[in-house]
Amino acid sequence: MKTNISGKTRLAGVIGWPVTHSLSPAIHNHWLAEHGLDVVYVPLPINPAVLHSTLPSLGEIGVVGVNLTLPHKELVIPVLDVIDHTAQAIGAVNTVLFDKGQRIGFNTDAYGFWHNIEVNAPQVRRDEAFVIGAGGAARAVVAALDAAGYQKIHVMNRSPEKIQGFSLISPRVVAHHWSAAPEVLANVDLLVNTTSLGMGGQPALDISLDALPSHAVVNDIVYTPLDTPLLHAARRCDLATVDGLGMLLYQAQKAFEIWFGILPEVTPELRLKVLG
Ligand code: ATR
Repeated sequence: MKTNISGKTRLAGVIGWPVTHSLSPAIHNHWLAEHGLDVVYVPLPINPAVLHSTLPSLGEIGVVGVNLTLPHKELVIPVLDVIDHTAQAIGAVNTVLFDKGQRIGFNTDAYGFWHNIEVNAPQVRRDEAFVIGAGGAARAVVAALDAAGYQKIHVMNRSPEKIQGFSLISPRVVAHHWSAAPEVLANVDLLVNTTSLGMGGQPALDISLDALPSHAVVNDIVYTPLDTPLLHAARRCDLATVDGLGMLLYQAQKAFEIWFGILPEVTPELRLKVLG
């Protein structure tokens, strides 16, 4: 923990409502200490009703930048001066940089998702992907899959109407109705769960992985627990798996680079620290 706080120490943080569960302070303060930066990263519990008045003030008092988590990622958009291309396509911002009086919005979730896959399953093929869910996280995942060159991006959601807007993120999206055994799985190289199913206290995701080819990679963006019922089932089918903690760590890595111009390292030591 940083103890040498001076008159020059600057602030960064994560805005959420609630925000007490956030792992971002542990991640960013680890890197700030590693790089000897005179900055403290703190949780900022901000009621969505006052986000519009509070965010500009943070820039005015010299805050370097902030991350945004639920429910702020979309609400913040009207308060920004500039929004980067990826964040615009996804329709959500998770990182703001305060720079020379401007509030600049980015989305590093897509980078975080794909980097996690690239680092932990570099063998993954890039023809067809299957995404379960159509919320904010799914939008970032689909943007990343499109950028990675996937030719078909199947999206399945309990509420199928939510998939409609996805064609604006990628023309290669194919919508599917909710099913426990989707027909297209035999051609899928990468399957991703973006729903909250499998999270502690939630039912497991009920999907049969039997039809997936033996080279398929299965990823869950849920990381509480780290070993979700979906990943467990994938391993039982001898499939490669990637857990969700990496997406959190790599989206933070990119945010840190946006604020400080340094791409910090995601190490096994950091993973263990974050897992507590
Ligand atoms: P996030 O930003 O994490 O993506 P979100 O935007 O609230 O969160 O999206 C949650 C996703 O989980 C949605 O795809 C949601 O499905 P619906 O669009 O049908 O609501 C999915 N989800 C949550 N609970 C679910 C459940 N019990 N069964 C199936 N899907 C569920």
